[in-house]
Amino acid sequence: MTDRPLVRMTGIGKRFGGVHACRDIDLTVTAGEVHALLGENGAGKSTLINVLSGVITEHDGTIEVDGEPVSFAGPADAQRAGIATIHQELDLVAGLSIAENMFLGREPRTRLGTVDIRRMRRQAEAHLRTLGADLDPRRLVGSLRVGEQQLVEIGRALSLRARVLIMDEPTAALADAEVERLFATITELRRAGVGIVYISHRMAEIELIADRVTVLRNGTVAGSVDPRVASRDDIIQLMVGRSVDALFGEGRNEPGAVLLDVRGLAVTPRRPVPGRTEPAGVDLTVRSGEIVGLAGLMGAGRTELLETLFGAGGSGRRAGQVTIGDRPYRPSGPRAALARGVAFVPEDRRGAGLMLEHSVADNVVLSALSSLTTLGLVRRPLLRRTVAEQLTTLAVKAASPSIPVATLSGGNQQKIVFAKQLLMRPRLLLLDEPTRGVDIGAKAEIYHLLHRLADSGMAILLASSELPELLSLCDRVVVLHRGRTVAVLPRASATQQAILAAANGDDVKESR
Ligand SMILES: Nc1ncnc2c1ncn2[C@@H]1O[C@H](COP(=O)(O)OP(=O)(O)OP(=O)(O)O)[C@@H](O)[C@H]1O
Ligand SMILES: [Mg+2]
Repeated sequence: MTDRPLVRMTGIGKRFGGVHACRDIDLTVTAGEVHALLGENGAGKSTLINVLSGVITEHDGTIEVDGEPVSFAGPADAQRAGIATIHQELDLVAGLSIAENMFLGREPRTRLGTVDIRRMRRQAEAHLRTLGADLDPRRLVGSLRVGEQQLVEIGRALSLRARVLIMDEPTAALADAEVERLFATITELRRAGVGIVYISHRMAEIELIADRVTVLRNGTVAGSVDPRVASRDDIIQLMVGRSVDALFGEGRNEPGAVLLDVRGLAVTPRRPVPGRTEPAGVDLTVRSGEIVGLAGLMGAGRTELLETLFGAGGSGRRAGQVTIGDRPYRPSGPRAALARGVAFVPEDRRGAGLMLEHSVADNVVLSALSSLTTLGLVRRPLLRRTVAEQLTTLAVKAASPSIPVATLSGGNQQKIVFAKQLLMRPRLLLLDEPTRGVDIGAKAEIYHLLHRLADSGMAILLASSELPELLSLCDRVVVLHRGRTVAVLPRASATQQAILAAANGDDVKESR
């Protein structure tokens, strides 16, 4: 490691109207280090790296690269200076292929000056292989799952051969195996002298790969520590200003009757969609008052199962039986699902969960409007109170309920998706990666909330790639492999090893 930093940011400040997103922040990135940037949702992490990556061009303070002051007029300038960025909200073009997305605007050319498609595909394939992603570079990005899109985005950053690589929550949608490969890649890059800025809410990752940790709080630097010296508690203290109690072994009520019963559910699509794993033999039950986890590798079909249960899956021939309460359940669409008391918090908040240009308040109440309406009139005081309650419950950080959702930080957007569904007071709540991108304090809040909801009789079915989350939260864990139920592990026998073995298709003793 050399002493002179690759990048030095000094006195960085950025305001959005009345909100001070960043205030007088100093940050350096040295060659060959992984510099972790931590902080609660809305602390200013993405804003700071948007300044460094040229997305935000008007700000206070200075940036030096290799000791020379620079001023970026846009992201292309930052890339030319050797700074590549994987943003929190992926910006890929759905209608283009993987290869085209990776090399957009800098396609390799033949001697005749036309795009060298074969070379482009070969290079794209090589980058994907580095990441262990088995994807055809010709596939349209729009057909990929969020986790796969994330891999494409990482591949694109690698292809830039940058000297500084910024990753804003790169593992949020990755399964454990992909995370491991990403870390192997990071280790190689670090050895090659690349400086890495790494943002994540997962403390275990930080302990594994960070050489240095800078914590932001309310837009300023709360402290900078050596993760080999500072404990996890020290770091969390810096982040939230208090210690966060983990959620283990809370007293829970006994579960009630079976609410959701799924037997032999299989969907044979009319036209198979590449990359989708439709249910191919799912058996599971969820009692009221119970939290059941869905585990599985990427591509195991967890999202597709939840979508099918919400009436939002692909169309096709169906086999098997699903009942809710005592009645058969086969929703024709989300409306029908909601009418039976089933709500769904999807994985892809930008795509399915939110109207980004609308206000926080509109987003929270719109789908629950009917319950707040008397004879077609919206009861405004009730509406205001309801929104305020939800925002407080989930500790949403928003300047006011009337600002557009698009201006909230990533984790706070996730909380809005959540709030919206809770307002419908469902009997069965389907959740796909509900705490993705949510900070550690808010995560604990959400866990407590889910326990409260379950104790009030709600049935909860929750897919998560974070095994510790499943283990601490769920009464039982259902493991899927290639669209089938391969194991049902009660809390007592569910361990990370048992879940992983089942998820990989190894034989596991079943119990229902
Ligand atoms: N374009 C914008 N317009 C208005 N306010 C914004 C905008 N971008 C960010 N903010 C505000 O700036 C603050 C910091 O947001 P930022 O996205 O940097 O947080 P973060 O630390 O990345 O959080 P998260 O962990 O949730 O991603 C938040 O209060 C956010 O609402
Ligand atoms: Mg962010």
